[in-house]
Amino acid sequence: MPSVFIKTYGCQMNERDSEAVAAQLIAKGYSLAPSEALADVILLNTCSVRDAAEQKAFGKMQNLAAEVRRHRPNVVLGFMGCMAQSRGQELLDQLPDVDLVLGTQKFHRAADYLDDIFAGRRAKVCDVAEETGSEATIREHLLNGDAAAKSVTAFVSIMQGCNQHCTFCIVPFTRGEERSRTIADIVTECRELVARGVKEITLLGQIVTSYGKREIGVCDGKSAFVQLLEAVHEIDGLERIRFTSPHPKGYGDDLVEAYARLPKLCESAHLPLQSGSDRLLKLMHRGYTRERFINITHKLRAAKPDIGITTDIIVGFPGETEADFEETLSLAREVQFDNAYIFKYSPRKDTPAATLPNQLPQEVKEERNQRLLQTINEIGARKYEACIGQRQQVLVEGPSRRNAARLEGRTRTNKIVVFEGSPRHIGQLMDLKIERAGSFTLYGDPAIVNLDEPVPQIFSPA
Ligand code: 5AD
Repeated sequence: MPSVFIKTYGCQMNERDSEAVAAQLIAKGYSLAPSEALADVILLNTCSVRDAAEQKAFGKMQNLAAEVRRHRPNVVLGFMGCMAQSRGQELLDQLPDVDLVLGTQKFHRAADYLDDIFAGRRAKVCDVAEETGSEATIREHLLNGDAAAKSVTAFVSIMQGCNQHCTFCIVPFTRGEERSRTIADIVTECRELVARGVKEITLLGQIVTSYGKREIGVCDGKSAFVQLLEAVHEIDGLERIRFTSPHPKGYGDDLVEAYARLPKLCESAHLPLQSGSDRLLKLMHRGYTRERFINITHKLRAAKPDIGITTDIIVGFPGETEADFEETLSLAREVQFDNAYIFKYSPRKDTPAATLPNQLPQEVKEERNQRLLQTINEIGARKYEACIGQRQQVLVEGPSRRNAARLEGRTRTNKIVVFEGSPRHIGQLMDLKIERAGSFTLYGDPAIVNLDEPVPQIFSPA
């Protein structure tokens, strides 16, 4: 059977989709190639959120067509995901070497289409149609493929799409209308993951605060999303729950209270801000004000004082003035984010903001990006330094990405901690003493925690 290499661009949802496609292909007898040079099928799972992300995947495919195809003409090349969805047939027209274009509602058809191509039944496939029920098709997990290297954490997709239509955002076009899976279906998937050794689950959706709004609705004052959190929380053996991304507009008090009530829900919130200026928030169609955003962070900190709060911010939205931008800077200082992802505004096809007047020059976007980055880094550095000397609970995930001789895990507030340990620690919850802080990384020492603990005394009966 052929081997496959999947390269993923973009967000956690894309990582999750790639994992599900890989697991589906393995179940059908395909193997995973260790590199694209050795693969019979190369799939690029793409991101459309900014033009740079599309350009990157497009350039990569041109390169594969020129280099890999030249030596191995039978290699199958495919695009999947958001750019496949938004560009469809156009990709086949522009890049004649591409064999497969698979949209965001068709990931579960990957194996069938590859079989068709290998069997010569079809020369090329482009499927970007909508499919009822596709939200429940992202369910297979790879979990590192073998029992020896068990996955400790897993992503679970709970919904697809977004109806918010922020004026800058292409997601409603690439992911479609909001559709939610049932609570029972999601809980079944989570239970299976826990039975396979997973300790931490991150619930994923483009706008999780809208989960089940239509399909499930409010019950006893609790939104469908909070009902889902409660149901997942019941699973024995699951230690930690996270979710991403909520929308500030739908961030109700029931969700804030869930942090106080549900001990498995980690003290960490990724709350996309986009701008600190009310004028821009309106132009962006975000549906909340600066004051409302700040208020949510106050409520979260009242419920969980040490909660880690991170955000997404766009700089250089059309018409953003220096005064608007300073409102964003001042909000960042006021809220004291633990970290923030900063994006330079990128006009996207068919979105209202792309045709707004006063599109800003690249230099202005760049300069604001740098200034905001500096502010975020200064605040983040202080937040991370404040952890030094503390004891933090860490779920050990595996070898450190920076230095494979060490281990890494995350605190409940979602900060990476690197420490010296042994493979038997992987999958364990450990208390570590934080010794040092680097750039958005903590360094911990398990030995020091052990020394601090009272030594157990063994008394022999008199
Ligand atoms: N330009 C720049 N950044 C964008 N984002 C979404 N659309 C755009 C765009 N057109 C950012 C937002 C979002 C994150 C995932 O990507 O900050 O939260």
